[in-house]
Amino acid sequence: MPEIFEKVTIQVKVNGTAHTLSVEPRTLLVELIRETLDLTGTHVGCDTTYCGACTILMNGLAVKSCTVFAVQADGAELLTVEGLEKDGQLHPIQKAFGDAYGLQCGYCTPGLMLSTLQLLSNDRKPNEHTIRKAIAGNTCRCTGYQNILKAVHLAAQNVKGE
Ligand code: FES
Ligand code: FES
Repeated sequence: MPEIFEKVTIQVKVNGTAHTLSVEPRTLLVELIRETLDLTGTHVGCDTTYCGACTILMNGLAVKSCTVFAVQADGAELLTVEGLEKDGQLHPIQKAFGDAYGLQCGYCTPGLMLSTLQLLSNDRKPNEHTIRKAIAGNTCRCTGYQNILKAVHLAAQNVKGE
């Protein structure tokens, strides 16, 4: 198929690695992450900006990457779930979700963990209300949320103890 749109060159740092990429203006950030960079831990669960499965951090802030154009990320630092682990060690948030059984199918989990990271960057001792607010944009169809709340509490303890 012929290309209809002129491509634009952007620079992004993803999980600490710099990339110079050529993208169509209509390309969504989640497409760039999943299809160009092959980082498939960022999921797509809807087409209405509802589910939050596509949540990543962009310059430290949680964004739904299905609702950001790749060109809007030019110059940004992005963190996806693949960037949480360091030197083969799970991030304390990843460990907490496992230990507290904060997942079943796991589809929502990468987005939830990145929303948790944003929360804990600002508040090391969040209460239940703050946690519920922080993860309000992340939908889970399996767990009923109770173990997710436990996981975020445990993550806060893990991160504090680091
Ligand atoms: S894929 Fe559902 S909010 Fe982005
Ligand atoms: S664990 Fe299945 S959607 Fe959350």
